[in-house]
Amino acid sequence: MRFEEEIMDQVITDIVVLAAGQGTRMRSARPKVLQALGGKPLLEHVLDTAQALQPRHLHVVIGNGAELVQEHFSQWPVQWWHQQEQRGTGDALKAALPGLRGADRVLVLYGDVPLLTADTLRAFQAKTPQNALGLSTAILEQAQGYGRIVRDAQGQVQAIREQKDCSSTEHAIREVNLGMMILPVASLQGWLSDLSANNAQGELYLTDVVAIARSSHHEVWPFTFSDASEALGVNDPVQLATLERIYQRRQLRHLQVQGLRLADPERVDIRGTLECGQDCWMDPNVLCIGKVRLGDRVRIGMGVVLQDVEIGDDAEVLPYSVLEGARIGASARIGPFARVRPGSDIGVAAHIGNYVEVKASTIGNGSKANHLTYIGDSEIGSGVNVGAGSITCNYDGVNKHKTVIGNDVFVGSATQLIAPVSVGDGATIGAGSTITKDVPAGGLTLSRSPQRSIPDWQRPQRKIKES
Ligand code: UD1
Ligand code: MG
Repeated sequence: MRFEEEIMDQVITDIVVLAAGQGTRMRSARPKVLQALGGKPLLEHVLDTAQALQPRHLHVVIGNGAELVQEHFSQWPVQWWHQQEQRGTGDALKAALPGLRGADRVLVLYGDVPLLTADTLRAFQAKTPQNALGLSTAILEQAQGYGRIVRDAQGQVQAIREQKDCSSTEHAIREVNLGMMILPVASLQGWLSDLSANNAQGELYLTDVVAIARSSHHEVWPFTFSDASEALGVNDPVQLATLERIYQRRQLRHLQVQGLRLADPERVDIRGTLECGQDCWMDPNVLCIGKVRLGDRVRIGMGVVLQDVEIGDDAEVLPYSVLEGARIGASARIGPFARVRPGSDIGVAAHIGNYVEVKASTIGNGSKANHLTYIGDSEIGSGVNVGAGSITCNYDGVNKHKTVIGNDVFVGSATQLIAPVSVGDGATIGAGSTITKDVPAGGLTLSRSPQRSIPDWQRPQRKIKES
């Protein structure tokens, strides 16, 4: 353990996330911090990162849409604080003050800045001396909208000036406040009570604590972010989409470094987690939702959607297939244009082909349903061949019923299996059969009306009108 980390271990730190702001520019009925990035709310990204730092307590200040936010995070170990009126970031932090008793310092984060990494925040903490006021800064080409870092002739930070309060010389400053702050709790209460709303926005700016601290000769310690994009915030749908791209690129780069091959990393999206074995491949426009796990040498074709699925070694999912809540066995082949729905378990080397839908069913090893088929609420053994156009009729309008098919069964094309029904091992069902009763093992079962031919039958003719 390094010296500075040793010191850090003795410092009791709380984290406060400010999340009461309105987010008007999102033009959405949902609170801003619940808007999704990579499939999860902005605030959840911030809380995940905050938790990785193992603070003593994690506080969140809420206001707009408070009930919805609290409801979403009801299982989280969070202390909630309400800011009744949104009177500025300083006022927001005041709301959480009662919770900070017993902490040495507090790290302030924003609920709409989701790309921050725990590593950066750890470095920020480690580099900020215990009693100093720590600022997160960056030098930006475009400083528009940010508070500017005002330094004196000796280069010491004097104050943060908000964009709307800047003089023309201050406007030209490119060193900005990224927002994250570390504050010594012992001094904080005094500083916050000294804030005034005598500024362009009539708000209590948290950033004014810098000038207050300096006036009492308190140490102010800027920490420069090497990658300022981590501190980007979300204010409108355009920024949300920009951050989504950064987030996706970051996740995919991570997977590529671990060995995942992508035809085009700009055209794969992960809204959740993706774990891959060795030598996996993905074509463009793949979408992974929830928890997706791929074994070794899995190939995913163009336009495939995978949601909460686990796919075994050497399996292949061909283009435009949609798989959800399913397990796919090793060496299986799914698609193209297949739909595998929740509760499905596809066996080793099984084939689910084009326009085949499988729902809540088990398909045994090596079994095949290659074309135009619906398999619902079924248990199908191994080595079964389900012919084109076959359907399990699992629903009678009120209840769902089960179809059980043994091993090595051959289901002829366009068979309807009216559930509940079972088919014994090795049975063959003639094409076009409507199966209403259990089928015995072995032999041939079919239900077909006899074919007739009427040799002298005439097609009806259209009458030609006389003019
Ligand atoms: C703030 C900083 C600015 C910095 C910028 C970085 C202040 C005064 N300014 O400006 O120096 O460059 O962030 O992005 O702090 N919030 C509340 N209650 C309120 C007001 C805000 O909870 O009354 C929350 C918001 O939900 C948001 C965060 O505080 O998560 C920041 O507020 P915002 O209004 O976006 O501050 P900026 O004007 O961007
Ligand atoms: Mg902002």
